Amino acid sequence: MSAVSVAGLVVRYGRVTAVDGVSFDAHAGEVLALLGPNGAGKTTTVETLEGYRRPDAGRVSVLGLDPIADHAELTRHVGVMLQQGGVYPGIRAREALRLFAAFYHPDHEDPDELLDRVGLASVASSTWRALSGGEQQRLSLALAVVGRPRVAFLDEPTAGVDPGGRQVVRQVVRDLAGAGTAVVLTTHELEEVERVADRVVIVDRGTVVAAGTPAELTSSGAPVEEIRFGAPAGLDTAVLAVALGAAVEEVTPGEYRVDTAPTPAAVAALTAWLAEHDLSLADLRAGRQTLEDVFLRLTGPDSHPGAR
Ligand SMILES: Nc1ncnc2c1ncn2[C@@H]1O[C@H](COP(=O)(O)OP(=O)(O)OP(=O)(O)O)[C@@H](O)[C@H]1O
Ligand SMILES: [Mg+2]
Repeated sequence: MSAVSVAGLVVRYGRVTAVDGVSFDAHAGEVLALLGPNGAGKTTTVETLEGYRRPDAGRVSVLGLDPIADHAELTRHVGVMLQQGGVYPGIRAREALRLFAAFYHPDHEDPDELLDRVGLASVASSTWRALSGGEQQRLSLALAVVGRPRVAFLDEPTAGVDPGGRQVVRQVVRDLAGAGTAVVLTTHELEEVERVADRVVIVDRGTVVAAGTPAELTSSGAPVEEIRFGAPAGLDTAVLAVALGAAVEEVTPGEYRVDTAPTPAAVAALTAWLAEHDLSLADLRAGRQTLEDVFLRLTGPDSHPGAR
């Protein structure tokens, strides 16, 4: 049995169809990322799984139960991190964690140890409203995991979190899955997905446009006949093009694309030219798509001819 199951989910806000036939499953011990641009329907999907919204069509179940009808039962087994707030502003960090742990979960993490793990030990007596945005995110995450949930819904757990904090968040998420929790998180950050997710469901405008492991998604599609590299901005691409016998384009300042098959000879010619001109090479990529390429191809403006 899947820990989380979504089948043909449709959710509307009046005339707006926010979720339009989304299906996916998440299993115990795995991190599933819902990846999509702003307004894709990620939060709406997760809120339906949390029992806060009623499907207009389709079915959702969590641990085989109905998120609305069985809400009280599920509360003990499900950890939730909302995209925004959800915590009483006057409560202190340690107090919130203790209250939450004791109230919902007989078998819970040690609140002080958890505060330490998410890097909040020094602000344990600060009220929610006095915490910085990133600290509030970390506390929300701690509140979602303190009860050792069997399923966790984390809506943008790394939004507004600094690089050190992201590492902490990733570690907490991986530990959670390692302990057997099914983790469903949302994000629009590709780096996050590549680092933390076992499986990815890409959503755009309420529908699933691709699904698979990060490796499956990046190896799908036609092989890419190009070389991409990073070098100082403003290179004379015309001169380089002559040297390589292929078109060269500066995609964004300092990021270049060579329109040629990524053969060893072509790569050698490129690096030789850079060396000759005493130019640094910041990055080199041959023939492999990144998740970002896939994401932009599937969700970018060009993917919807005539839309918007
Ligand atoms: N309460 C609401 N009333 C009306 N429309 C809403 C409401 N909540 C969301 N929407 C609309 O539904 C669509 C999906 O919103 P949702 O919040 O699920 O997207 P999201 O993928 O979580 O986006 P983000 O990355 O910005 O958090 C959007 O077009 C949004 O404007
Ligand atoms: Mg959202």
